[in-house]
Amino acid sequence: MRVLQSCFALICFSMASLLVSSGALALVPGERVDNFRLLDHEGESHELYYHSDASAVVFMVHGNGCPIVRNALPRYRELRDAYANKGVVFRLLNANLQDNRTSIAAEAAKFGIDIPILMDDTQLIGEALGLVRTAEVFVIDPKTWKVVYRGAMDDRLGYETQKVEANHHFLADTLDAMLDDETIVVASTDALGCLINLPEAGKREQHASISYTRDIAPLLIERCITCHREGGIGPWAMTDYNMVRGFAPMIREVVRTGRMPPWHADPAHGSFSNDRSLSKEQTQTLVHWIEAGAPRGDGPDPLAEFEHDWQEWALGEPDLVLDIPGYEVPATGVVDYQYQHVRNPHDRDVWVRAAEILPGDRAVLHHVITTFTTPGPDGKLDRRRSQSLGGYVPGAEADEFPEGTGTLLPAGAVFTFQMHYTTSGRASTDHSRLGIYFHDEQPEHRLGGAVLMNTKINIPAHSKDHEEYASRVLDADVLLYSLLPHAHFRGKASEFRAIYPDGTEEILLSVPNYDFNWQTTYVLSEPKLLSKGTKVVHATRWDNSAQNMANPDPTRDIPWGQQSWDEMLFGAISWRYVDDADRERNIEVTSSGD
Ligand code: HEC
Repeated sequence: MRVLQSCFALICFSMASLLVSSGALALVPGERVDNFRLLDHEGESHELYYHSDASAVVFMVHGNGCPIVRNALPRYRELRDAYANKGVVFRLLNANLQDNRTSIAAEAAKFGIDIPILMDDTQLIGEALGLVRTAEVFVIDPKTWKVVYRGAMDDRLGYETQKVEANHHFLADTLDAMLDDETIVVASTDALGCLINLPEAGKREQHASISYTRDIAPLLIERCITCHREGGIGPWAMTDYNMVRGFAPMIREVVRTGRMPPWHADPAHGSFSNDRSLSKEQTQTLVHWIEAGAPRGDGPDPLAEFEHDWQEWALGEPDLVLDIPGYEVPATGVVDYQYQHVRNPHDRDVWVRAAEILPGDRAVLHHVITTFTTPGPDGKLDRRRSQSLGGYVPGAEADEFPEGTGTLLPAGAVFTFQMHYTTSGRASTDHSRLGIYFHDEQPEHRLGGAVLMNTKINIPAHSKDHEEYASRVLDADVLLYSLLPHAHFRGKASEFRAIYPDGTEEILLSVPNYDFNWQTTYVLSEPKLLSKGTKVVHATRWDNSAQNMANPDPTRDIPWGQQSWDEMLFGAISWRYVDDADRERNIEVTSSGD
């Protein structure tokens, strides 16, 4: 048992000075840090509670241009190295108003910082921790997620003064005590560093004027209720104030950890028309409102009064409707991917301008990927020649194919539906349907695309970060429309990169926190021209360790496989050829590693 009582006087003393200087509610040693997820200056995703296997998690508060931080960093790095094999995780945390990703990356390059700098751009984490000055360190115990020490790393540095050697090594002493299961003698000290401007810190009273009726309900209507409504995919419906207030703490948690709204692209790369994320200001408003007690405000309840005509088919009555064979989904447990095959009942070739899946039961149907292929002379289906016809993902509105494009659907085609069900607590039978919309005449361009896959992947047991990729060099100019990274339970991060003929590189899409539950197609806001000779690289990283909560078995080396207990590196791209001479080509599969 670590005892903190002996330090209470010291804590109270330093807390008093913290309160005076900031007016904020600082987190004191002994208090728990709620989980959060942040991107670092290189676009990597970091979740605090991922480190439940660490012996300690240490943060130092970073700020560009602060001499004390710069001076403290070499020692911080030494400690990182000294405790590397003792399971201590070292991070930096930047909550500065004036710093951004570019300036932080420049500072990191200039000062050789090789420790991830987590960027708290909403300042919500900094506010919750009660940050006052940079260079302060926090030690968090992963067994309880409580702060066990906050304050200076040691007493070597002062303002414009420094000693050759520190007399007190607060951080190292704390870590040694934790590793030896001994009492932490000093749990808090005053940290010297540069003052941080957190304009919203400690403003609970002002935040109480954020009103549910005026500010919050419209935000939920805009960003959440396509899923969180009666009959929607979300597990609970945002029906009125009472419902939302009841879920308020949970909303704070899912927003801080980036689970909701479900959107996983790094905003630094690309712009996507189906972006579901909240803006920085929306995130701040929502969380401040919850932390202020989720007040209702005056006036009628917009959610209770909200009426939306959720049409059966979002695009209107289809030209052709196909029944997908029903599937009985049990109340609980994991249902693996189901593959259903249906022959095209239409008797002539048609050009398709849109396709829409109408879910039978939105509460259990997680996603559908529709492909079709024409059987060969032997009657067999060659999956490698299969073409995509979109699919269904929760919350996505059905979209027409890009302007002037279409897909030729032959009369003899066979559809394959990859159905992913998630159990909902009650048994249900799903009867979903596919609606197909025809062009009246052949469109100007054939919608095409490519799949980049690598069937030679092998993900070692227990590996936390294993990367593989597939690539392809374009043999003609294309207009890029959308990107879909696909992996399974162990997928951790995924990206698409373009290496242009002149050697420059661009990240087209980065998904730093890949989530198997959301098979999102990222639709570019503007089609992007990729010229002949461009190399497109699709890379995925997997976490096959026990720390990955979704991992069914960390002890297995994982090969390629269609089922979710194996893995896939599968990047689906949709595009059209710029030159009409190339238009006969459809989806092309590039399989690296074959
Ligand atoms: C695209 C559909 C979709 C959108 C948009 C969406 N959610 Fe969700 N939400 C889900 C699904 C599905 C789950 C359950 C599965 C999960 O947690 O991933 C969920 C779970 C949640 C939960 C957790 C419930 C629990 O106890 O596990 C909360 C809270 C939540 N959503 C809040 C929000 C808020 C707030 C927004 C808008 C800012 C939002 N969601 C937008 C689909 C959505």
